[in-house]
Amino acid sequence: MSRSAYFTTPIYYVNAEPHIGHLYTTMLADVLKRFHQMLGDDVYFLTGTDEHGEKIAESATAKGVDPQSFTDQISGLFRSTWTEIGVDFDDFIRTTDERHKTYVQQILQQVYDAGDIYFDEYTGLYCVGCERYFTQTELVDGKCPDHQTTPKEVKEANYFFRMGNYQQALIDHIEQNPQWIRPERYRNEVLSFLKNPLEDLCISRPKTRLTWGIDLPFDDKYVTYVWFDALLNYVSALKQSGSGKDLFERYWPHCNHLIGKDILKTHAIYWPTMLMAAGIELYRQIDVHGFWLLGESKMSKSLGNVIRPLTFDKQFGIENLRYFFFREMKFGADASFSYELFVERYNADLANGLGNLLSRTGSLIKKNLGGVIPKVTEFEAPEQALIDLAAQTVDGFVDHFENRQFHLAVDALRKLQAAADGYINETQPWRLAKEETQREALERVLYTGLEIVRILATLLSPIMPRACRNILEYLGAPSPCNTETPFAERVAWGGLPAGHSLGNVPRTFPRIDEKKIKEITAQAEAAAPPSGGKPAKEEKKNDFRPLSPEITIDDFAAVDLRVGVIKEASLVDGAKKLIKLMVDLGEGRLRQIFAGIRSAYPEPQALLGKQVLVVANLKPRQMKFGLSEGMVCAGGGGTERLCVATFDGELLPGDSVS
Ligand code: MSP
Repeated sequence: MSRSAYFTTPIYYVNAEPHIGHLYTTMLADVLKRFHQMLGDDVYFLTGTDEHGEKIAESATAKGVDPQSFTDQISGLFRSTWTEIGVDFDDFIRTTDERHKTYVQQILQQVYDAGDIYFDEYTGLYCVGCERYFTQTELVDGKCPDHQTTPKEVKEANYFFRMGNYQQALIDHIEQNPQWIRPERYRNEVLSFLKNPLEDLCISRPKTRLTWGIDLPFDDKYVTYVWFDALLNYVSALKQSGSGKDLFERYWPHCNHLIGKDILKTHAIYWPTMLMAAGIELYRQIDVHGFWLLGESKMSKSLGNVIRPLTFDKQFGIENLRYFFFREMKFGADASFSYELFVERYNADLANGLGNLLSRTGSLIKKNLGGVIPKVTEFEAPEQALIDLAAQTVDGFVDHFENRQFHLAVDALRKLQAAADGYINETQPWRLAKEETQREALERVLYTGLEIVRILATLLSPIMPRACRNILEYLGAPSPCNTETPFAERVAWGGLPAGHSLGNVPRTFPRIDEKKIKEITAQAEAAAPPSGGKPAKEEKKNDFRPLSPEITIDDFAAVDLRVGVIKEASLVDGAKKLIKLMVDLGEGRLRQIFAGIRSAYPEPQALLGKQVLVVANLKPRQMKFGLSEGMVCAGGGGTERLCVATFDGELLPGDSVS
């Protein structure tokens, strides 16, 4: 019977560009969506961006842009990154969307009218990084454990939500629903936190301190506290979905939040109490994962040790990372990423594992059976053992997925693949091929090997959709999400279509050369210095190019060089090398300049706010994509060192340079 499921990711703060920590939760939702689609369920997946609050306002000011255009840029970057790497979200909510703002105000008014919001004066310790107050006991050595910063003492009159009123109801709910917060360690963490009396929650910020937020509907001198605003996205996005429909009734009862452990308290305490006060049924489940660490530290913008999804996609292919993530992380615990381990796992499991099984069996069919999948209906004991193992693998895989034991689900696939490899080694089809009398045995062995590949590719497809689609197409097998045939039939033995002519074996998992890691880690180290100092850069030799003919000082003076500040930066459709820049030269308007620097800035938002050197009096040039009015200077053209020229100090847009 078809079920429904609604998966959400946290909505990401737009003060940081997407990195593979964000990617993990996003791909988790994507994989779960595809898994449910494979089972034939009705599923919906929401992601988006969290755009209000002090942290965002501060980041916009630091870049010298207004919060709206700042959030437009970074939110756009999250959205385009997910789209570019094939994340299949159904809706993307922004907390600056009108649909969201209206809903937040409606709930605030309702809770206020019901008497659960009151006005009071408060002094507390506030961490801007977390956008919340901390109690002394939550601090470690007086610092926020996540940001390693000392929270500032804030004293002000504000509105408070009577969160404490719902404490007992929340405890009861958690106790009566042991699976509500998973894994169990996080359920225990919340229950232990709830042993102490729950303080009321400050849900406003005076506009004298912060204007970037949603106005309180009952006092326009205040904006809404960012968490009270953000959490409501999970409902506001359904009430008025991207397609315009109200999907609340259809999906809310099936809501499954996916979050990292850093935001457990807000999701398992603030949010359910808010829902209770608003008279909304609680979400069905919350799954909490640990952090991806790089070395010993959490991957995060503030530590500067991030890996960008688009960069990784170009280097190794994002699907291979999806595989690594699901194979490697024990859900709930932290896990470490390293390029070495990634390549090791990829080569062992995919290049030498599944890829090799596919190419061995596929090529032998091509060579010995005219490239046509044979019809085989009778199997003997060794095949029967594999048939039974395949059936167990299907059941185990589904169970492990449902229980969020993804690494065990992947383990089950690896065991089946290894058993099939062992079977091929034992039966030696290349030998059978040499004897006419063994034709039947040869067909049976190759069919069995390839049928295991088909079952593996079907089950693996939520994690590696593109690669598995290629394999299934090659095999002439139905897509994993074919809704006409029930899932159980799609993964039952014998689905490989006899008589199908195989083309050339796809090279789905080419081996990765370990040398590539060295190049990449060297680049990553140069780009992201460890906190506390710049990396010691190896001195590199340059191939010195001969100088251009001499010019006079007057020739030089004819070039009007100015300081420009990059206000917007975007990729140009159809131009592989260009980035479109909107540059402020202090002229009261922005200049459009096309710069050939895309290879150095695959994520152009990295250029925002940079003070660059501009040739301001260059004759405007009409290009295919629009008018280019000047030139942004860059060094290292034609080499991988390419980067824009910036200034070692704070100048103003339009300042002259000589
Ligand atoms: N805006 C809030 C969430 C509001 S939801 C109503 C927020 N945003 S965030 O941009 O900081 O994203 C935090 C989430 O990103 C984590 O909960 C986790 O899902 C993901 N991750 C960020 N860094 C991560 C790792 N290094 N490892 C794994 N996931 C991490 O908090």
